[in-house]
Amino acid sequence: MTTGNKLAQIGVVGMAVMGSNLARNFASKGHTVAIFNRSPEKTRAVIEAHGHEGNFIASETIEDFVASLERPRKAIIMVQAGPATDAVIEQLADAMEDGDIIIDGGNALFTDTIRREQEMAQRGRHFVGAGISGGEEGALNGPSIMPGGPKESWETLGPLLEDISAKVDGEPCVTHIGSDGAGHFVKMVHNGIEYADMQVIGEAYHLLRYAAGIEPAAMSDIFAEWNQGDLNSYLIEITSEILRQVDGRTNTPFIDVIVDAAGQKGTGRWTVKEALDLGVPVTGIGEAVFARALSSALAQREAAQRIGLPSGDLTTLENLGADKEQFIEDVRRALYASKLVAYAQGFDEINAGSQAYSWDIKPGDLARIWRGGCIIRAKFLNRITEAYENDPELPSLLLDPYFKAELEGGLIDSWRRVVAVATQLGLPIPVFASSLSYYDSLRSKRLPAALIQGQRDFFGAHTYRRVDMEGTFHTAWSGDREELSY
Ligand code: ATR
Repeated sequence: MTTGNKLAQIGVVGMAVMGSNLARNFASKGHTVAIFNRSPEKTRAVIEAHGHEGNFIASETIEDFVASLERPRKAIIMVQAGPATDAVIEQLADAMEDGDIIIDGGNALFTDTIRREQEMAQRGRHFVGAGISGGEEGALNGPSIMPGGPKESWETLGPLLEDISAKVDGEPCVTHIGSDGAGHFVKMVHNGIEYADMQVIGEAYHLLRYAAGIEPAAMSDIFAEWNQGDLNSYLIEITSEILRQVDGRTNTPFIDVIVDAAGQKGTGRWTVKEALDLGVPVTGIGEAVFARALSSALAQREAAQRIGLPSGDLTTLENLGADKEQFIEDVRRALYASKLVAYAQGFDEINAGSQAYSWDIKPGDLARIWRGGCIIRAKFLNRITEAYENDPELPSLLLDPYFKAELEGGLIDSWRRVVAVATQLGLPIPVFASSLSYYDSLRSKRLPAALIQGQRDFFGAHTYRRVDMEGTFHTAWSGDREELSY
């Protein structure tokens, strides 16, 4: 720990798990780090446990903390999102001076970030909302960082953030995403994609277990093998580890002792709410969020068990004459295809958000900075970067020549078989099935929306357009059924 006259290059407010790990990360890169926490015991505990790791300046008042920072001062807030963040921003803004930079590294709602940036700009303070992914391990050893805020703040902050971020092929997993709330918006959609990615892995697990009868330990090997190919990713890797785990208390597979009710902190829900406002169908993410909600509706689920809901006639893989090895490969492909749809939809939301809020986000850059440090890190992201490098105006990731070729190689047939089999066996696959429907909708020449337009015109005179001429039309449904044009 250093004190004396030396000033810190960066400060961190909030010494809970994420904040303390981020501070240690900065210190390990040779930076002097100012630290502060509302309750001073936490700050003292960090110094006690980790003070020897680098140069820290610990303060017990926000004024001392601010005074210990080099100008322009740069302080990252890592406290609870919402009112706690607002309180800390206020305290910092009061103690800081013109040109100083306040960075919110929490999971703030991007509209809050937009509001805070405006408020801070009026007070001469720079405000940067930065999404930070990678959990506690990433914060310590290298996260993926998505900073928004003014471009000039990035000039000052960039080198510091590049120092502590994850690196892949020598490239730092951080870039300036866009102005004001762009960083937190992108982090939000990143988390939404993460929900879908986790759910498709969950659906694959469920099918292998309850359709193919594969026990967790054996399935662990299958996931480990999948991790060698197209699906190579952190989430597949940890899935393999979780499935291998045996519960110490009962000596049964660990997965079987976990209550099957998934929690959520809100970023997936935000992603879907914003997608609804933007009019972007993120069906994979939406089904993943709803699947967590349904899993946690324990009273309803218990009632359904107690009262019993009819299943209709169910069959088995054997009765269907399915080959088990082929089924496993079909499930792998269905997982890959559904994941591709979820990413395509997530990037559609990012592109729509970028347009709506004038952020000029470069989607290929995002895929690049998500390759390391974050929970959705995956080999596959290289392909997404390439897709957007080849065509920055790509209408959908699914239309990129590489991914289109992937889909052509028997993937669709496997995907259809899996959805059909799961349905016949009565096993829920909300993301696999809805992603396939999305895919079929996207490629269909005609959609039933024509009928919906007819219905809207019938009951509400909402009008329709015709395929064969310009203009807007209404049929006098309750009268002579003549067509009127406008
Ligand atoms: P993590 O997820 O990293 O464990 P968190 O739960 O998001 O952390 O946030 C906890 C941090 O927010 C703590 O540092 C907490 O300070 P205390 O240790 O004093 O409780 C901080 N925090 C919460 N509310 C705060 C407030 N109103 N003002 C300042 N800091 C606050």
